[in-house]
Amino acid sequence: MPSSPGAPNPEGLASAAQARVFEALPEAQGVFFAPGRVNLMGDHIDYLGGVVLPMSLTEGTVLAAVPKARRGEGGLEVWALDASEKAVLSLADLERPLGDWRRRLVAVLTALGLTPEAVPFRIAISGTLAGGGLSSSASFALVLARWLREEGLGEAFESWRLASILQTVERDHAGVACGLMDPLAIDLGTVDGPLRLDCEQGSATPVALGFSEAVFALVHCGVGRRLEDGAYNRVRTALAAALAEEGFPADRLPPPAAPVRAAPLRHVQSEQARVWAGCEALAAGDAAAFGALMDASHRSLAEDYGVSLPELDRLTALARGLPGVYGARLTGAGFGGWAQLLVDRAAWPELQKTLAAEGFPQSFLASPGGAPRALPLGGAHG
Ligand code: GLA
Repeated sequence: MPSSPGAPNPEGLASAAQARVFEALPEAQGVFFAPGRVNLMGDHIDYLGGVVLPMSLTEGTVLAAVPKARRGEGGLEVWALDASEKAVLSLADLERPLGDWRRRLVAVLTALGLTPEAVPFRIAISGTLAGGGLSSSASFALVLARWLREEGLGEAFESWRLASILQTVERDHAGVACGLMDPLAIDLGTVDGPLRLDCEQGSATPVALGFSEAVFALVHCGVGRRLEDGAYNRVRTALAAALAEEGFPADRLPPPAAPVRAAPLRHVQSEQARVWAGCEALAAGDAAAFGALMDASHRSLAEDYGVSLPELDRLTALARGLPGVYGARLTGAGFGGWAQLLVDRAAWPELQKTLAAEGFPQSFLASPGGAPRALPLGGAHG
């Protein structure tokens, strides 16, 4: 049965956000979707050329667009629904404070060789990744960049080039000196599972989710985070200083067997080893082994790298004590946000209830969401 115009796409990707953009722009013919990502293992090593294991998500950011009828109606008009703000953008938005959504949006446009005036559309954007740790920021940039490519506007960069451009945008316009992982995890995402992303070699290898009964779940710790407050940059600076002090290059992982003294170096070195062990556990379908690596990763991120919070520690410790949980860790940058659990599929409904009763009501199962793409209204399954 064809869907009625204005109905959210039945594929259900970020469906709450789809409903919001259609309500804002009922005349839109479809939406463009970019997933978020969860990093299953390997945090705070992408900016050292490490190998990481992110997976794109079915939750993400959606954009609906309607062309302006006539030129002269002004350039790009954006309804940022999650910020409850509407604006006609211009290059002057680049002067706004670091992290302002209008500044970041115009920065993405200019990085693609465009100005807001060269994009005569009305667009509405909304996402389902709020709370920290699922890469709402890269998802926002990619929904825009890949929708523009679909419209034939701006430079059509391949994924690694675009990731490095977006990394610069994030540093210069959000003030976060992040690595390459997030835009790549999203732009190269598959619907089958995570990617083994080698940030030094520039390669991405799809990895199958080999578990039969175990699934990844995401649970919010109750405290959101803003990387713009500088915590992320501070740990990076401290790491670079520790690397230099022990005679290693400041932007590379210390070799796997090299003796290291400082705690941050212990983290990055052991975290890289856990990624390789995690790939083996995934291939073997060994949920207990992967779960144990997650517990060790959390301990290392908390104790050696200092990026956890009491709420993330409480949530992950609580989860580890519950039946049907193989492991628990913070995911992404840390400092609040979402935690990642590996759980028995059959136990999840009960676990979800227990976690909610303990003060963690926001949770969902993580499914691989593929890469950014257009979703026609109604979709093939309509
Ligand atoms: C953020 C950054 C990434 C990465 C993670 C931690 O998501 O954007 O580049 O460093 O934190 O693994």
